[in-house]
Amino acid sequence: MIDDLWYKNAIIYCLSISTYMDANGDGIGDFKGLERRLDYLHGLGITAIWLMPFQPSPMRDDGYDITDYYGVDPRYGTLGDFVEFTHGCRQRGIRVIIDLVVNHTSDQHPWFKQACSSRDSAYRDWYVWSNKKPANAKRGMVFPGVQKSTWSRNKQCGQWYFHRFYEFQPDLNTSNPHVQAEILKIMGFWIQLGVSGFRMDAVPFVIATKGPKVRKPVEQYDMLRSLREFLQWRKGDAIILAEANVLPNSDMEYFGRDGDRMHMMFNFHVNQHLFYALASADSRPLAKALAATKPRPATAQWGMFLRNHDELDLGRLTKRQRNAVFRAFGAKKNMQLYDRGIRRRLAPMLGGDRRRLELSYSLMCTLPGTPVIRYGDEIAMGDNLDLPERNCARTPMQWSNEAHAGFTQGERPSLPIIDEGPYGYEHVNVAKQRRDPNSMLNWTERIIRMRKEVPEVGWGDFKIIATGDPAVLAIRYDWRNDSVLFVHNLKDTPREVTIDVGLPKPVNQLLVNLLSEKHSRADRRGKHCLLIEAYGYRWYRCGGLDYLLKRSDIDAEGARSHPT
Ligand code: GLC
Ligand code: CA
Repeated sequence: MIDDLWYKNAIIYCLSISTYMDANGDGIGDFKGLERRLDYLHGLGITAIWLMPFQPSPMRDDGYDITDYYGVDPRYGTLGDFVEFTHGCRQRGIRVIIDLVVNHTSDQHPWFKQACSSRDSAYRDWYVWSNKKPANAKRGMVFPGVQKSTWSRNKQCGQWYFHRFYEFQPDLNTSNPHVQAEILKIMGFWIQLGVSGFRMDAVPFVIATKGPKVRKPVEQYDMLRSLREFLQWRKGDAIILAEANVLPNSDMEYFGRDGDRMHMMFNFHVNQHLFYALASADSRPLAKALAATKPRPATAQWGMFLRNHDELDLGRLTKRQRNAVFRAFGAKKNMQLYDRGIRRRLAPMLGGDRRRLELSYSLMCTLPGTPVIRYGDEIAMGDNLDLPERNCARTPMQWSNEAHAGFTQGERPSLPIIDEGPYGYEHVNVAKQRRDPNSMLNWTERIIRMRKEVPEVGWGDFKIIATGDPAVLAIRYDWRNDSVLFVHNLKDTPREVTIDVGLPKPVNQLLVNLLSEKHSRADRRGKHCLLIEAYGYRWYRCGGLDYLLKRSDIDAEGARSHPT
């Protein structure tokens, strides 16, 4: 029964088809290449793939500018190849979720072209227009410094159209019932072809009121319920994972008080405070962020991530906190982006320090939610800061030390492969790390396997345990009569902490280390004295390894839903 809510304890792996593997030698990744790598992904242990946009597109925003929602860009293959890919995933028990980019289309989409061609066009009202340049046209840009305004004039019809993102991404008028019906049709189409859900792009903007007179956009949260209802009628186990970088006080609006809206959301709030914690070795703001995002319906889940395909957005931190993260991880101007974030990959941000990488991934896997890994992070890939904007962290996957990192047999990969410096493919690649039992790749595989064996993280209720040291974060999860404890030392020096696990005897007496032989027995007062090395982390089972024999079939009274 609990497995029905598969996303509560999934391991999601995010990848872009264009940079994974090129099977036909034209230099661009394709579905055939990806399909051939499914055994690799299966071996890594991931349980779901989040596939970034692959529909026909002029590719001015890495595919987030779509011209046909019902197709596959011919550079990547055909719809047939797509179905072979989802089938291959199903054979291996891997689910596929795809991007649903319906806040806007490409300006090359036939809908937009028709809308521009005549004011009487049936598609006219699918977009958002103004006769004059609206007064607030210079406000609300998502890409400040690159994007100049949110309204642009279309020469053909002489009117202004609204675009929250780049000027080639006109916003759809999502209040229009025809547009809403089309969005459902798009979801229904891909569901039929075998996907298990959608990563919904830019949700706060999709549901916001739009128009020249809108001064302060208002979210129409009801739309979220109709999307979910439709999805659930079509396919019971399909989900929506919302990209919504919002303040904690609106989280419940997105999840729905009865768990009737989004199944999952990325936890941007925790993400930013996690980076602050890593930069400052102070876990207190992170603990606060965890508490602030704790209320959620029992069926809802957070997506926990470190880096993704966009910049690391630090906009929700205080200025002091933000500057601390910049100083630690992206001091140079060319490492920063859009006045609010860092565009690098994780490994170079952490100076390639293996201890810090493990610490970060250990945190990602044990904070309350479902981990979302970015392709290449399992081998600690680097970035190429010569590439513009966010492209620096979107270089091709490094498979081997053969030509073009084994990404393509073609003469010229369409995107440059990192081929120099410590992150060059000759040093950092899958083949090499496979042979080394101590590699990042094999560590990641082991940590994924262990994470699957602690469903308490996805299902349980969590509690921050006092350690008396801001550099040491301890979290305990309780679920169905079992408890696990995770301890992380954020500092570059060893720390000794004495903690009270807070459980009754005899469970509090023994902490069994799941990753090494360093177990802990309580002292006479029932407390545990833990010595943790610099950047060290511990995964403990409380009480012993007989927990599966003790597990209850039902949740304890009062723990059935997270208190709100
Ligand atoms: C989301 C995507 C980003 C894209 C934007 C416009 O923020 O994550 O990559 O550029 O939407 O679609
Ligand atoms: Ca290709």
